[in-house]
Amino acid sequence: MKLKIAILAGDGIGPEVTNEATGILRAVAELGGHDFTFTPALIGGIAITETGSPLPQATIDISLESDAVLLGAVGDNKFAALSPDKRPEAGLLQIRQALGGFANLRPSIAYEALSSNSPLRPEVTKDADILFVRELLGGLYFGAPRWWDRDSNEAINTMRYTKPEIVRVARVAFELAGKRRKKVTSVDKANVLEVSQLWRATVTEVAKDYPDVTLEHQLVDSMAMHLMNIPRNFDVVLTENLFGDILSDEAAVITGSLGMLPSATIGGAVNLYEPVHGSAPDIAGTGKANPLGAILTAAMVLRHSANLEVEAAAIERAVLDVLEAGHRTADLARGTDSAYTVVSTTQMGKLVHQSLTQAIDRRQSMHAV
Ligand code: IPM
Ligand code: MN
Repeated sequence: MKLKIAILAGDGIGPEVTNEATGILRAVAELGGHDFTFTPALIGGIAITETGSPLPQATIDISLESDAVLLGAVGDNKFAALSPDKRPEAGLLQIRQALGGFANLRPSIAYEALSSNSPLRPEVTKDADILFVRELLGGLYFGAPRWWDRDSNEAINTMRYTKPEIVRVARVAFELAGKRRKKVTSVDKANVLEVSQLWRATVTEVAKDYPDVTLEHQLVDSMAMHLMNIPRNFDVVLTENLFGDILSDEAAVITGSLGMLPSATIGGAVNLYEPVHGSAPDIAGTGKANPLGAILTAAMVLRHSANLEVEAAAIERAVLDVLEAGHRTADLARGTDSAYTVVSTTQMGKLVHQSLTQAIDRRQSMHAV
């Protein structure tokens, strides 16, 4: 299988974690005889420094010519004083728009091996397995008008959705729920916002095409609470852009670290894959970054852009094996005792690689028998 992957490593810990993720993809290619190519391109603060733009045209071209785009992280405090459209984050929003993916899938799973990492009690997080489907191209992030008038001290952003924008992302949520536990929780603020009333009415209409999937509606404020109280009650959670941004970070508490969460954005010309965590400039270059979010993101590349489900699941299994063997990056070492070994970013990558190779060797020798 041939796969062209654009690598947009970006800022802070982005390059470190992306390196480990591409290492795992290379291993999969080698073990399975696949032809994966990796083309680096600039985005974010590093792109501003080198080209003056957070998203150079060359990066858009390389991305659009690829089968998948794997992104590390963007964000650099150096540019904190700039207006939002000139900051590194603008590069991320622009690449999302250029690729056109509107459904951002963010799984949030309570791994048993990490149950002591969550501040929530293990009996609360037990069996939690949530898939957020976050609308990624609409809402306050992109609505016009938007401005900040420094003279009048007034600023405005616009939350806007059209029915087709809601229909297409809702369909993704229902399709995915149909393959899981068959429940969609749609999040809105329909007691206050007209946009949310349109959202709720539209999702309710779409649900009629999926009679085997149960739909429930939750207001975003009470959803924030339920998510921490009974996370196992949720299967697929469908949200607009900003609510999904907030709730998916909150849901990282269930897993135990933001560093564990992967994401995939589908529905556009080329799928975009990025760990949920940011550029974490405070730990960049220290070997403390957790590469597992990026490595699990690599698994999503194989699942959603290459149809290599077995290989994707093998990566996920390898990550679990390494955690179960007691290896932890610094973010996961909190509250742990001497039963755990704290490892660096690159060591963690190597451990997953080893575990993956062994699993595949075992499978091949089983086939040989
Ligand atoms: C995320 C990030 C981005 C977002 C930022 C960096 C623009 O927080 O991917 O969740 O808000 O979408
Ligand atoms: Mn976010």
